[in-house]
Amino acid sequence: MPDDALITVKPELAQGAKVDAARYRTMMAEALRDPEGFWREEAKRVAWMTPPTKIKNTSFTGDVSIKWFEDGVLNASVSCLDRHLESRGDQVAIIWEGDDPETDAKVTYRDLHERVCRLASAMKGLGVKKGDRVTLYLPMIVEAAVAMLACARLGAVHSVVFGGFSPDSLASRIEDCESTLLITADEGRRGGRKVPLKTNADEALKSCPTVQNVIVVRNTGGEVPMQAGRDHWYHELCAQASPQCEPEPMNAEDPLFILYTSGSTGKPKGVLHTTGGYLVWAGFTHELVFDYRPGEVFWCTADVGWVTGHTYIVYGPLANGATTLMFEGVPNWPGIDRCWQVVDKHQVNIFYTAPTAIRSLMREGEAPVRKWSRKSLRILGSVGEPINPEAWLWYYRTVGESRLPVVDTWWQTETGGILISPLPFAVDQKPGSATLPLPGVQPALVDNEGNILESATEGNLVILDSWPGQMRTVFRDHERFIQTYFSTFPGRYFTGDGARRDADGYYWITGRVDDVLNVSGHRMGTAEIESALVAHPKVAEAAVVGMPHALKGQGIYCYVTLKSGEEPTEALRKELVAWVRKEIGPIAAPDAIQWAPGLPKTRSGKIMRRILRKIAANETDSLGDTSTLADPTVVQDLISNRVG
Ligand code: WTA
Repeated sequence: MPDDALITVKPELAQGAKVDAARYRTMMAEALRDPEGFWREEAKRVAWMTPPTKIKNTSFTGDVSIKWFEDGVLNASVSCLDRHLESRGDQVAIIWEGDDPETDAKVTYRDLHERVCRLASAMKGLGVKKGDRVTLYLPMIVEAAVAMLACARLGAVHSVVFGGFSPDSLASRIEDCESTLLITADEGRRGGRKVPLKTNADEALKSCPTVQNVIVVRNTGGEVPMQAGRDHWYHELCAQASPQCEPEPMNAEDPLFILYTSGSTGKPKGVLHTTGGYLVWAGFTHELVFDYRPGEVFWCTADVGWVTGHTYIVYGPLANGATTLMFEGVPNWPGIDRCWQVVDKHQVNIFYTAPTAIRSLMREGEAPVRKWSRKSLRILGSVGEPINPEAWLWYYRTVGESRLPVVDTWWQTETGGILISPLPFAVDQKPGSATLPLPGVQPALVDNEGNILESATEGNLVILDSWPGQMRTVFRDHERFIQTYFSTFPGRYFTGDGARRDADGYYWITGRVDDVLNVSGHRMGTAEIESALVAHPKVAEAAVVGMPHALKGQGIYCYVTLKSGEEPTEALRKELVAWVRKEIGPIAAPDAIQWAPGLPKTRSGKIMRRILRKIAANETDSLGDTSTLADPTVVQDLISNRVG
């Protein structure tokens, strides 16, 4: 199939669709012509205590200030819970599917509301109040969603840290936002293995004096030490707590959560999202992109530790009164057909996953998919990294029987929700393209000088104006916010991604143009991995780049210079891999380590990463100009000792 093959909308499936092609065009035009009017209407999709009269007040220049619905008052947990009680209190809000296929649970909106109120009351009893930060370090269990919503109910700001992060990574995220409470579990389960969350948390807390209390969910029942006065069992606290808890009135611009994400420099940034705009965006995009219809079961396979889990497991689906499926396990355990088994078991209508999962399932052929009916499925989605056309087509043909629309959704932690994606029954799809922007989103491509490029072209992806779900600042570092996103191309939000636009105006995301890696859909800064490596006593210097990887999209390729006198042995190579896993977490484990007696540097000492990327990718015949290097001979050595 050629690169620009069109998969057209199937009219028989489009019956009753929320948005068809004509409606999409009208919405696009309206959002551009009258953003105030458009978003005033859309804001009605959430429950306000005081509806906003001021809609949009945003500036991408100077101090950069982004405010949406700024005089509105609401509480996110009310939109996600209370307002559904009358109409759908007994409908299932969360289907939980355990790691072990024999375990599952269903939680109705009424149950969820009570569980959230009990935990919120308990947290209040521990002194948590509006504006306090609460870190969550939890497995994919219902309590993770309960804890997020309980924070929202009190106006406390949650910071969810992915359960696969190391004690050090957890500690630095707690220290940065000075959380006073940590909510964790004894252990997590993934693919038949246990994850020692409480043990990791205890290790992390040695350097986190701000944390006064720890709430521990008894999940596996594994033995864990409890520190008297600090540690409390979740079930004990909640049993004693009131099942009623009044929602805290929050200004639309009061913070809802912080989520740490990797950038090209320094330590992870605390991306801050506020209440009103984020929630409107979560509900709006969940309904439009997935054509969500009442009563349907929606399954996003992400972890709540990432933004995808925040927006499309918790806030978006619950704001829309959906049934959201939360999966504790991994897609290929105990069998490679696990996803399709779960789809049939719970009659999933919409399935949303990452290209890396699709590629790993694709390797195993069609039989495991065909084994299950998948009749309930209506829409397939992809997120997190560029999806290669081959994987897109396999997903479409094998999983979707060449019938179901595939929505390739491009967005970022910073954007709060999806920005570029086909609406499934309004926009024809092309395998490998995220297609067109959503209403209210104005993407553009610019050259390296910031000039806007017209028509079919390739360039840096920027967004010209604000949308309600946009991050508002970096927690306690507004200067870094301006520097990171608004200084490269002044007056524009710079995504860090490159993209191509074809003659139909379709966007094809080509990947990061900065020093951020995307490994299996997980975002990582090369600088973080480098600083983990140089923290090892035998390492003098390290440079980390991405390399093409058939399964993970990108792999982690490290060039390491040892201190003089140190021997580059196989044992040391293994030790360094283990070291990075321990320092950051298993997701950051290097795929390749090359011993580098010297690194290619300019005369001013700057490492020329372009060359290192080329060598890692084995594209050594197109190295480009190396004449500006301080010592051009190091390049030959690196080429001859390339690993892999
Ligand atoms: C990449 C995840 C191509 C991109 C929601 C972005 C994608 C980064 C896509 C954000 C997609 C995400 N096609 N690339 N559909 N979706 N990306 O913050 O490089 O974890 O900048 O948010 O993932 O990753 P993050």
